[in-house]
Amino acid sequence: MSTYLKITDLHKSFYPQGQQLKVLDGINLEVEKGEIFGIIGFSGAGKSTLARCINRLETSDTGSIELGGTDILKLSKKELLKERHKIGMIFQNFNLFDSMTVYQNIAYPLKVSLFPKSKIKERVQETAELVGLKDKLDAHPGALSGGQKQRVGIARAIVNNPDFLISDEATSALDPQTTIQILDLLKEINAKSGITILMITHELDAIRYICNRMAVLENGKITESGLVRDIFENPESKTGELFARVFKLMQNVDLTHGSGI
Ligand SMILES: Nc1ncnc2c1ncn2[C@@H]1O[C@H](COP(=O)(O)OP(=O)(O)O)[C@@H](O)[C@H]1O
Ligand SMILES: [Mg+2]
Repeated sequence: MSTYLKITDLHKSFYPQGQQLKVLDGINLEVEKGEIFGIIGFSGAGKSTLARCINRLETSDTGSIELGGTDILKLSKKELLKERHKIGMIFQNFNLFDSMTVYQNIAYPLKVSLFPKSKIKERVQETAELVGLKDKLDAHPGALSGGQKQRVGIARAIVNNPDFLISDEATSALDPQTTIQILDLLKEINAKSGITILMITHELDAIRYICNRMAVLENGKITESGLVRDIFENPESKTGELFARVFKLMQNVDLTHGSGI
């Protein structure tokens, strides 16, 4: 196994009303090539900011972010555009183009990259097939269920064959059954293509289902990282402990003593 993502001492502050708000406060993180790595944290912990710093949608203050050995913070704008094709991203609210069909949504990243025009149709069709949307290519996102919308989001994120996929709360708006289907799809894509996945979420179940290793993000700091199993059994951080406790409580709920409604 080799390291794919290496983040070293990453800092990022915002200045709302002129006051410094430290959102990422010395992040160190290593993700192996081909793994599905989980990051868990409460709302406001800095998860989306971290995701956005990794693909440089947000500018970091100090530190380094290496992707496949390239320090992406040092790239020129032109180099960055090229590097971005190696990174796919999926979101809680899908971020689809509502006025475009499913086909056009999936084809979009190919059209703005150097992908050969004559091969676009074939690539869109095979990607749609992989995510289970072959018969929806002419539909508009408005006519799709949440799970189908996220399948479009995933197809659009992987159509360029990226090395790395960032999932920022991709299943947080979905019901439990659909969540499992989407997680199964991510697992399948990871197994087939070897793509490295960073699964950012506040849902412990999702991490337990799909990740082998994880890190806990708390107030802009990684407070613990390691095997998912170990963090569940023996959480060392406040956030890790809270998540593990809630999970155990949910497992032990006595369903025979419901509200009686
Ligand atoms: N552009 C911004 N300007 C000012 N504050 C921001 C900005 N983006 C995020 N924040 C703040 O940074 C903190 C972390 O936000 P975020 O990264 O979205 O957390 P999470 O994804 O874990 O919920 C929050 O307090 C949020 O209000
Ligand atoms: Mg977020």
